[in-house]
Amino acid sequence: MFIDTHCHLSGEDYDDIDKIIEDDKNAMVDKIVVSGCSKESIDEVLVLKDKYDIVYATLGYHPEYASIITEDDLNYLKKILDNEKIVGIGEIGLDYHYGKENIDKQKWLFESQLKIAEELNLPVVIHSRDATLDTINILKKYRVRGIIHCFSGSLETANIYIKMRFLLGIGGVLTFKNSKLKEVVKEIPMESIVLETDSPYLTPVPFRGKQNSSKYLKYIAEFISDIKDIDIEEVLKITNRNACNLFDFDR
Ligand code: NI
Repeated sequence: MFIDTHCHLSGEDYDDIDKIIEDDKNAMVDKIVVSGCSKESIDEVLVLKDKYDIVYATLGYHPEYASIITEDDLNYLKKILDNEKIVGIGEIGLDYHYGKENIDKQKWLFESQLKIAEELNLPVVIHSRDATLDTINILKKYRVRGIIHCFSGSLETANIYIKMRFLLGIGGVLTFKNSKLKEVVKEIPMESIVLETDSPYLTPVPFRGKQNSSKYLKYIAEFISDIKDIDIEEVLKITNRNACNLFDFDR
């Protein structure tokens, strides 16, 4: 049984979502946590979580949209979060990859949503790109737990997050040739790892270049099993337990 702790599922990327879900189920995917992180995708995911039993949701505004999100949007988000299939807030965070022009707005959006997470006691899924130090310093101000999604930093950074009791979302990047993540994953405890695909992006080897979906989780789990020299069943047992403890599915 596989749990995808983070992916995106949108009609913009997939022609036939029914078929994707069916293929995922056939590949023994039991739960998919779909992130709605733009105004449009939030509304889309609200529909998907009701339509498909294996779909759960995390909702929150991605830093990419920091310049257009208003107080009203945050109030809307807060209102819709109270639902048994919405298991967290995300992906939220900081992204300095394309520049820091709106850094204040990004921080405001990030912290506003961390406050909501703290208040509603919901886990967070964190997006941090070229912004490690600010992400860590901001997270330290709030009593929140969650996942550092698509973790690809150094062992030192991994250990800081682990000490803060965050889980690290490991996905297709691990399987890429020349990925430095292998050495990091080798050193960190299984108790800090959850599996994710970030579909439709970051498809693992041997399907790199094709469109990703949760059915490829198997290749990420196999890769971890090789690196750690443990059975794939053990990888799944521990990472699924980590995911279930965090997201409290079927509460
Ligand atoms: Ni994502």
